Amino acid sequence: MKVNQAEFIISAVGPNQYPEGALPEIALAGRSNVGKSSLINRMINRKNLARTSSKPGKTQQLNYYLINKDLHFVDLPGYGYAQVSKSKREVWGKFIEDYLLRREHLKLVLLIIDLRHPPSKDDIAMYDWLKHNGVPICVVTTKADKIPKGKWQKHVKIIKEALEMDKADPHILFSSELGLGKDELWAVIENRIGY
Ligand code: GTP
Ligand code: MG
Repeated sequence: MKVNQAEFIISAVGPNQYPEGALPEIALAGRSNVGKSSLINRMINRKNLARTSSKPGKTQQLNYYLINKDLHFVDLPGYGYAQVSKSKREVWGKFIEDYLLRREHLKLVLLIIDLRHPPSKDDIAMYDWLKHNGVPICVVTTKADKIPKGKWQKHVKIIKEALEMDKADPHILFSSELGLGKDELWAVIENRIGY
């Protein structure tokens, strides 16, 4: 997809704030600081439209971005951020859960995982939960630039095995820094939304 236009729409804190209309939505899930917002910026060639931060837990609402007039990216709050109070974490959990289960415009969840490390318990739980609920998933392993190219496949194998990843689910090796995987990820998204 050639991105001609990208704009921030809303930080939604509840369903009544979700945009109207029937545009397909692509949501990004992953641990805090894994690189969700950076991935959006790379996909749309914008440096800082999606707010990134070296401080984890920055994204705390559902942040909607409109791409051309074709689709929305939905940047979800990162999970597994220990410094957020427990009660608040539960509220977010429920809110995100409802979105992932009930939003009919949701066409695909990009599960973003750090290529450098084995998936966390939260990553595995998220993958299992999405599979269990029949939500379409694409696993994106990011920050590939942080390890040598010769080790990429070994790390991919460890991650796929730990997730017991379904062979039918797409996987993209990604780096927001390098732009690696961008075209392949767009192809997966276009395929899902029938673009
Ligand atoms: P939350 O909103 O807190 O959940 O974080 P996030 O998942 O949106 O992460 P964000 O995109 O803000 O990135 C976190 C940090 O990782 C920033 O310092 C980014 O510059 C860095 N980062 C993200 N992706 C990459 C990548 O592919 N390569 C490298 N080298 N750094 C990255
Ligand atoms: Mg973010």
